[in-house]
Amino acid sequence: MRGKLEGGSGLILGIESSCDETAAAVVQGGKAVLANVVASQIALHAQYGGVVPELASREHLRNLVPVVRAALAEAGIGFGDLDAVAVTEGPGLAGALLVGILYAKALAFGLDKPLIAVNHLEGHIHAVLLESRASDVRASGAPAEEYPLLALVVSGGHTHLYLAEASAVGTWTYRNVGRTVDDAAGEAYDKVAKLLGLGYPGGPWMDRLAAFGDPGSVPFHFGSIKPRQDAGLRFDFSFSGIKTAVLRYVQTQGMAAGIAGRRATIEAHPGMKPEQAAELCDAQTLGLIASFQSAVVGNLLRQTMRAAEAFGARGLLVSGGVAANGELRRRFRAEAERAGLPVAFPSLALSTDNAAMIAAAAWPKYLAGEFAAETMGAQPQLRLGSVG
Ligand code: KG4
Ligand code: ZN
Repeated sequence: MRGKLEGGSGLILGIESSCDETAAAVVQGGKAVLANVVASQIALHAQYGGVVPELASREHLRNLVPVVRAALAEAGIGFGDLDAVAVTEGPGLAGALLVGILYAKALAFGLDKPLIAVNHLEGHIHAVLLESRASDVRASGAPAEEYPLLALVVSGGHTHLYLAEASAVGTWTYRNVGRTVDDAAGEAYDKVAKLLGLGYPGGPWMDRLAAFGDPGSVPFHFGSIKPRQDAGLRFDFSFSGIKTAVLRYVQTQGMAAGIAGRRATIEAHPGMKPEQAAELCDAQTLGLIASFQSAVVGNLLRQTMRAAEAFGARGLLVSGGVAANGELRRRFRAEAERAGLPVAFPSLALSTDNAAMIAAAAWPKYLAGEFAAETMGAQPQLRLGSVG
């Protein structure tokens, strides 16, 4: 459905339920975050060491109404003040997505307001655009020659490189020029952390502990990925090899007993902070963690900078849960400065899954009157943009 809107104060309610966070946010005009509420299910899934889809759906059902109410209260508005409802349509867990979509549909129908479908990956990109509208990376109303921007979306489920640009009517187009052929970078972080007996999710644990280790102690290598013959110029990733290399290292170095002890101690202290676990790790373990992180960040950085050069990117956007990583931010900033490219990250709160990014991504669609049809459903495998 497409329609033309006039007037209104630009208040969009965003709803996100694609994985393990139930989130609602109110964003005005695509840039002012009036409320951003996230109910995390981390504690629930931690006991299983990963997201359990059925439990995630049930938790979304339980949390969605209170989270939306909290967002409206925080924004100081009522349902009637909203101009549109935006919701994640995919990619993600089918049941989890459905909870948000059915609620958003019913709400939009009841309020007689437009419903806007947002791709979760586009949401991550707009988390940066939302916050950088006032900074040096051109995000809205910028002259065409400032594009394309190169966006790295790196999270527990995704590792993608997109060339992104705004069209004349303000809506964005994306071209995928890189993706992981196996594990996502965040998934590798989480699996290696689990293997080393650390807490869940593993990314923040590895991030904090890497600071205590020697990043040169274990040499890890990333081979080049052979593109399909019909593929254009691509900058793909692979993270399953380094995960196996860590496993082999742990086995050959006889680290099993130390890992079991650490896992038991961390499990017995549920509130433990990642940095407190440094005392539970010997120098070899800390070196392994630092070496893993240095190699993963180095690989993300190398592929991104190569793609930026090859496609003449005018700026970099880095988003998704792994974009919260301290070393990643430092090294991307330094390298981008060397290359004379502006680089932008979301604030830490908007790096991981949230609904402000969904409401922000919906804004150009709202202005263009790009609304969802009543038949809209969950799209667990949804892709973003074109490939090539
Ligand atoms: O974007 P997100 O909340 O959910 C997905 O869409 O996947 O990302 C979660 C991922 C997890 O794999 C988590 O371990 C990782 O982001 N992560 C980090 C850090 N904080 C979260 N990885 C590395 N360093 C961090 N500081
Ligand atoms: Zn995400």
